[in-house]
Amino acid sequence: GRVRAPTHIISTISDDRGEEPCYAGVPMSTIVERGYGVGDVISLLWFKRSLPRYCTQFIEICIMLCADHGPCVSGAHNTIVTARAGKDLVSSLVSGLLTIGPRFGGAIDDAARYFKDAFDRGLTPYEFVESMKKKGIRVPGIGHRIKRGDNRDKRVELLQEYAHSHFPSVKYMDYAVQVETYTLSKANNLVLNVDGAIGSLFLDLLAGSGMFSKQEIDEIVEIGYLNGLFVLARSIGLIGHTFDQKRLKQPLYRHPWEDVLYTK
Ligand code: ACO
Ligand code: LMR
Repeated sequence: GRVRAPTHIISTISDDRGEEPCYAGVPMSTIVERGYGVGDVISLLWFKRSLPRYCTQFIEICIMLCADHGPCVSGAHNTIVTARAGKDLVSSLVSGLLTIGPRFGGAIDDAARYFKDAFDRGLTPYEFVESMKKKGIRVPGIGHRIKRGDNRDKRVELLQEYAHSHFPSVKYMDYAVQVETYTLSKANNLVLNVDGAIGSLFLDLLAGSGMFSKQEIDEIVEIGYLNGLFVLARSIGLIGHTFDQKRLKQPLYRHPWEDVLYTK
């Protein structure tokens, strides 16, 4: 019989060898003919399957809502400073992307992990939040620098409204809201933030769509796919900030002395 030479790489998401490239077995012509959007392409390349329209639309809404949040946030600030130092697009982009992490935009996976674990174990919001406090861990998905109990994040409300009218179940989101009710009783800045909203709602998407086995959901949460949504989304804004600075011919940035506390 034929002997297959061992390969150095295994790949399961795309194939460029035929007449036309395929994403998870779906040819490019089908993607174009059926009017697929970026949510469908993410479904194919990240989740290796076509997801129902309400799921792909949810993915697209996450991307649109997280594309930018002004020039003052960590990522945009880094990108602006880098572009003003005369660096190229890729350098300016990655300089901003590198700020995405546990405090900024990269708390989605941990929010999903902790909310899922707490909900599945039947912890009350009080038990969950207090157990996190005992461990000295801030609850991922809770808290914001400028949003407050009396100045909610519109993005979170929009995601919640979409899920309420399109998802079969929002049990994880409801749990996250109960957690928020408890944290808001402690301090007014401890709102459910956009990372927490996406983390909990994606759990509802995975569990409610009927497209994933329990084992697959656990793997997605364990590997941590969901910060990818913020990375992808915010790249759009960071690229925009780079062009903006170049267009404005902004000079090299230097932080003002007056804004630094020089001390021993
Ligand atoms: N869980 C528990 N307590 C919290 C949390 C939290 N998630 N966030 C803040 N607190 C507490 C702090 O312990 C602090 O109390 P202390 O001074 O007694 O220690 C108090 O609230 C005020 O905290 P600050 O440090 O002033 O909050 P800050 O505005 O600096 O932090 C941040 C904002 C980084 C978002 C914070 O809330 C946090 O770490 N949240 C978890 C990570 C997260 O979800 N990040 C994503 C934000 S959304 C986005 O980036 C798109
Ligand atoms: C963001 O989307 O960048 C934020 O929610 C963070 C912020 O401080 O506005």
